[in-house]
Amino acid sequence: MYISALSLVNFKNYSEAQLEFSESINVFVGNNGEGKTNLLDAIFYLCFCKSFLNPIDSQNIRHDEKFFLLQGTYQKDEKEIEISCSVQHGQKKKVKRNKKEYERLADHIGSFPAVVISPYDTNLISEGSDTRRKFIDSIISQFDRSYLDNLQRYNKVLDQRNALLKQFYDQRIFDPESIDVWDIQLIELGKVIHEKRQHFLVDFIPVFQKYFDLIANHKEEIEIEYRSQLNDGNFAEELKKSERRDMNTGFTSVGIHKDDLIFHINKQPIKKFGSQGQQKSFLVALKLAQFEIIKNLLDMKPILLLDDVFDKLDHHRVTHLMKLVSDHAFGQVFVTDTDIDRIHKVFRDTGMAQRIFMEGEVEQALKRDGV
Ligand SMILES: Nc1ncnc2c1ncn2[C@@H]1O[C@H](COP(=O)(O)OP(=O)(O)OP(=O)(O)O)[C@@H](O)[C@H]1O
Ligand SMILES: [Mg+2]
Repeated sequence: MYISALSLVNFKNYSEAQLEFSESINVFVGNNGEGKTNLLDAIFYLCFCKSFLNPIDSQNIRHDEKFFLLQGTYQKDEKEIEISCSVQHGQKKKVKRNKKEYERLADHIGSFPAVVISPYDTNLISEGSDTRRKFIDSIISQFDRSYLDNLQRYNKVLDQRNALLKQFYDQRIFDPESIDVWDIQLIELGKVIHEKRQHFLVDFIPVFQKYFDLIANHKEEIEIEYRSQLNDGNFAEELKKSERRDMNTGFTSVGIHKDDLIFHINKQPIKKFGSQGQQKSFLVALKLAQFEIIKNLLDMKPILLLDDVFDKLDHHRVTHLMKLVSDHAFGQVFVTDTDIDRIHKVFRDTGMAQRIFMEGEVEQALKRDGV
């Protein structure tokens, strides 16, 4: 599956643009603010019906215009499929497949998978544990429908339990029976979610490690640890033990909502001790592992969108990365960069074919090194 053509009308800084893509590597080169990331976002929009940058649809309409329209031509199973997505101020977003409007956007999502690696991924290292939980939750929910369902139910029970704790505190009472009702459900759902996270990580971590080693050329030792209060303790016992304390805070302090992934480099926390390039390599490896899991699951290669991925990586790592993604395991790849000399050097060293789009005027040139 790949996208062979894209047309944009009034999308962000583009009033009108048409592009034709290579089914392997495409590179957008230009100065800051030219609209390179916006092109990746347009492709992402057509795949997921939303932006990976700005969740407010109407803000993606070019300033002072009334609507935007994106059209993509996809090649899938030897068929050509037209996908369009339009947003108009004050109206519902419209997504069409071969001119027929989808009734539910959920019917579209997943048909044209994509994985994006962007500078915003640093949140996975720098922010709180909820970003890391969301990362694994979003992957697991793609292949396990009951997972998301259980997670939503768990969060509802957790809210109810917390509300009850607050009520106990405010009214200076404690009723063990009424809290047990919530505990039973929390324990049951929590155990299932914990087990699924554990199973998923057993598969995911070796894939991640493989990619990190390929990018960093085995220079650093890295580790992901799944930290959960459910790992060795007895959830029911721990819940009981913390009951009184939780009553004072009005918050349940034990459960899978406290799970985290601990990232280590050379046995130290990467957040504190990883260099920017090491952190970047780590994040890229995480996303490539996500790519591989989705690819195996859907039996289809997602489109890979690499936004500013070369920034902070040394030339060796850039070359390793590009060799890696030009391999048959990956399909169509989009790369953005501000530095044309770096792009020429990378592709000269790797000898790969690519299509380069220069700056805003979208000058196209099919380049094959040595030709
Ligand atoms: N709704 C909008 N209407 C008009 N312009 C917009 C809109 N949304 C974003 N932009 C403009 O798009 C430009 C940013 O484009 P983009 O992020 O794609 O740049 P870039 O080429 O990736 O730059 P960098 O090299 O800094 O990453 C900015 O100038 C921004 O003001
Ligand atoms: Mg950008």
